[in-house]
Amino acid sequence: MNKIKRTPIVILNFKTYLESTGKNALKLAVASQLVAEETGVNMVVAPQSPDIYPISNEITIPVFAQHIDAINAGGHTGSTLLECVNEAGAVGSLINHSENRMKLADMDMVVKKTIEKQMVSVLCTNNIETSAAAATLNPDFVAIEPPELIGSGIPVSKAEPEIVEGTVDIIHEINPKTSILCGAGISTGEDMKAALDLGAQGVLLASGIILAKDPKDALLNLVSKI
Ligand code: G3P
Repeated sequence: MNKIKRTPIVILNFKTYLESTGKNALKLAVASQLVAEETGVNMVVAPQSPDIYPISNEITIPVFAQHIDAINAGGHTGSTLLECVNEAGAVGSLINHSENRMKLADMDMVVKKTIEKQMVSVLCTNNIETSAAAATLNPDFVAIEPPELIGSGIPVSKAEPEIVEGTVDIIHEINPKTSILCGAGISTGEDMKAALDLGAQGVLLASGIILAKDPKDALLNLVSKI
């Protein structure tokens, strides 16, 4: 089993908060590594693209890109090329995050490219139907995140447990090789335990940790009930 995909897994999406940019991103990545070392939980960080290289040189836990464009090398100004983030140190990527939605054909191309380059793919979805479609593309993970709960502090594992259970059931039916994560509003150990009890094998989260007074403490609380 590729240890990068070891579950339970916590993927901290740095998004584009100032608290998780540049030097702050490095501090957050080091804090995440310390939590991984202290608890043994598989912690993954997903910084903005320009922060991938400096962070990858400072930590040993997996670094993922937040997005990869459906392009091959060539004239695509301003786009994000898989080979570039991979060479910078990214060993996986979020794909189709609700804040960076993609067409189905583009998701398919990027997932295929991650498989070719042996990178981990986390295909983000917004409901049970899109999770079913995503499973047919053979990603390593499908991360179900109802957009209306993202950044709300209202955890999906408590507010919409049926969407997590429904996603787990349909993906187990369609593609047992794909693991399921859930995200949106997750911030505490209770939220994470509820997610795992619903059948998810990990969580994808952001603001509850990044904007916490002490992100390292918040991460330790998050994994305290695993
Ligand atoms: O990628 C995870 C993110 O969309 C969840 O956001 O702030 O609700 O943890 P947040």
